[in-house]
Amino acid sequence: YEDRGLDGFVDGTENPQGDENVRNVAIIPEGRPDAGGSYVLLQKYLHDLKKWDAVPVAEQEASVGRSKEANEEFSKDVRLPDSHLGRVNLKENGVGLKIVRRSLPFGKISGEHGLMFTAYCHTLHNIEVQLLHMFGDADGKTDLLLKHLSTAVSGAYYYAPSVERLQDL
Ligand code: HEM
Repeated sequence: YEDRGLDGFVDGTENPQGDENVRNVAIIPEGRPDAGGSYVLLQKYLHDLKKWDAVPVAEQEASVGRSKEANEEFSKDVRLPDSHLGRVNLKENGVGLKIVRRSLPFGKISGEHGLMFTAYCHTLHNIEVQLLHMFGDADGKTDLLLKHLSTAVSGAYYYAPSVERLQDL
């Protein structure tokens, strides 16, 4: 009930909170093409929990950039540049690149399992920049979660129209 993933960490803590903040980050504003809709990334990750569970908790925490049990964020001066937070907690010209995450863990521990990563944003840019940082295309560094835990097996961007737009169609 703490929204922990199969990896044991709380997922979603730094998500925008409250209807208005969520809307501001996720929904394309009036006046822009596709207003009222949202850009979506669906990316399927398979976890190797055997491998992850063999990684000492301190190293798991360093890989995420937060503590596991208490879910406290590591300060920027101690967190590793290739930790997950080092890869996705990004600013451009002093402005945070925000996205709304609605990921879903799936599968059986005994079989295939992982995370259906799902994110919404009013601009693809924010999602894209985070992905580039995770996968080594920004500065050559790759996310430690990809080394210790997870492999992306598929992914695609979608455009989700507003309900009004769908009704019009
Ligand atoms: C195996 C896949 C992934 C796992 C297990 C994972 C897990 C986590 C965890 C545990 C946190 C810290 C708690 C929180 O704030 O939610 C986090 C934060 C975050 N993740 Fe991921 N994540 C994954 C993939 C991604 C991807 C693909 C993106 C972006 C394209 C992403 C973007 C973010 C963002 C923006 C944050 C909040 C950073 C902040 O502002 O502190 N994550 N993730």
